[in-house]
Amino acid sequence: MTKSRRFVLEASQVLTCPGGTGARHGRAMSDVGLVEEGAVAVSDGFVEAVGQRAELRSRYPDAERVDLSGHVVTPGLVDSHTHAVFGRWRLDEYELRCAGVPYMEIAREGGGINASVNDLRERSEEDLAELSRARLRRVLEHGTTTVEVKSGYGLTLDDELKMLRVIRELSKEAWIDLVPTFLGAHAIPTEYRDRRAEYVDLVAETMIPAVAKAGLAVFCDVFMEPGAYTPAETKRVLEAAVEHGLVPRIHADEFESSGGAELAAEFAAASADHLGAISEAGIRALAGSNTVATLLPGTLLFLGKSYYPPASALIDGGGAVALATDFNPGSSPTVNLQIVMSLACSQLGMSPAEAFVAATANGAAALRLEDGRGTLEPGAPADIAAFSVADFRLVPYLYGSNHCAAVWKRGLRVR
Ligand code: NIG
Ligand code: FE
Repeated sequence: MTKSRRFVLEASQVLTCPGGTGARHGRAMSDVGLVEEGAVAVSDGFVEAVGQRAELRSRYPDAERVDLSGHVVTPGLVDSHTHAVFGRWRLDEYELRCAGVPYMEIAREGGGINASVNDLRERSEEDLAELSRARLRRVLEHGTTTVEVKSGYGLTLDDELKMLRVIRELSKEAWIDLVPTFLGAHAIPTEYRDRRAEYVDLVAETMIPAVAKAGLAVFCDVFMEPGAYTPAETKRVLEAAVEHGLVPRIHADEFESSGGAELAAEFAAASADHLGAISEAGIRALAGSNTVATLLPGTLLFLGKSYYPPASALIDGGGAVALATDFNPGSSPTVNLQIVMSLACSQLGMSPAEAFVAATANGAAALRLEDGRGTLEPGAPADIAAFSVADFRLVPYLYGSNHCAAVWKRGLRVR
């Protein structure tokens, strides 16, 4: 890391993703705030000004200049849905799925999430921190400067707290921001298989109060899906979360519609995530709400599904869409939000501009960040990514590669 001072990044294009805090809805998602031959002045870790190169040269004649000709400079990407703390990859499960066994069937047989649970319970905090730090470095290398991370592979009070402490420890390292989510209701742990109501009680009555009291999470999530948590169980957990000051979000309608989007809107959840099987009523409920629809097309690609969430219907209806990786060892092992943007454009009918807003400002809105992260507006923290292409549309277009060439976190060069 080099020390922060005033400097000016001079690029081929700058995207500011304007609009202040809060989500961009509907047509507002198309405004990336494109500045051709643009420049960003950074001072003491914050964005001071954005304008054309010539303009900022005359305004700050003595400032250090960083030549990023041939590059696009954007807000650091915000990945608002990951499960980045885990132990080992699940390669046996991958082979089964390649042979045609469905993801939820593997889960029914005690694999899937519960395989990661068994593995994580055996590991020390230090071990998990080391594994996760290395993975988060890769997240950063792909241009992401803020990342939400969920618990949910512990499923005992102690193991959930262990995961959340790992997230807290890693967030003290200044090169990336982590936003913690408690996901005790991720799977029914194997030992509670025949007494699931008891586990839901444990989550609602013991885990949530303990997590909230320790200040270890901002959000509370539930995997609501046939084969995971029912709508009634989800309500129970989210009511306890709200009572203890955790903000709800839901893994909703991932493979089958069970009213997850509607429930998220009812709870004024920060986001409803996945939505591969969202119903018409769900689309209407989300489009007319402040709940961000977070789409994770990388998961559906990796699981070999042939359907994708209806991004255009959500946006046309006035909804706010965010994009995230869902980075996890089961359903989405990618850390690359750029390829998620490619999928959004090719499979979900989003424009490159909408994809950028969804991966920056709307990701920040899904995390209720109110300090300007996800934008390059004056006053925002200087969380900045530079991509080695001269036109922002090339980021999703040249799919599959990592175009990120440099990253600044609060004005410090971290990549
Ligand atoms: O978002 N759907 C539930 N949770 C994750 C998968 C986690 C896992 O398989 O380990 C998801 O896809
Ligand atoms: Fe997830």
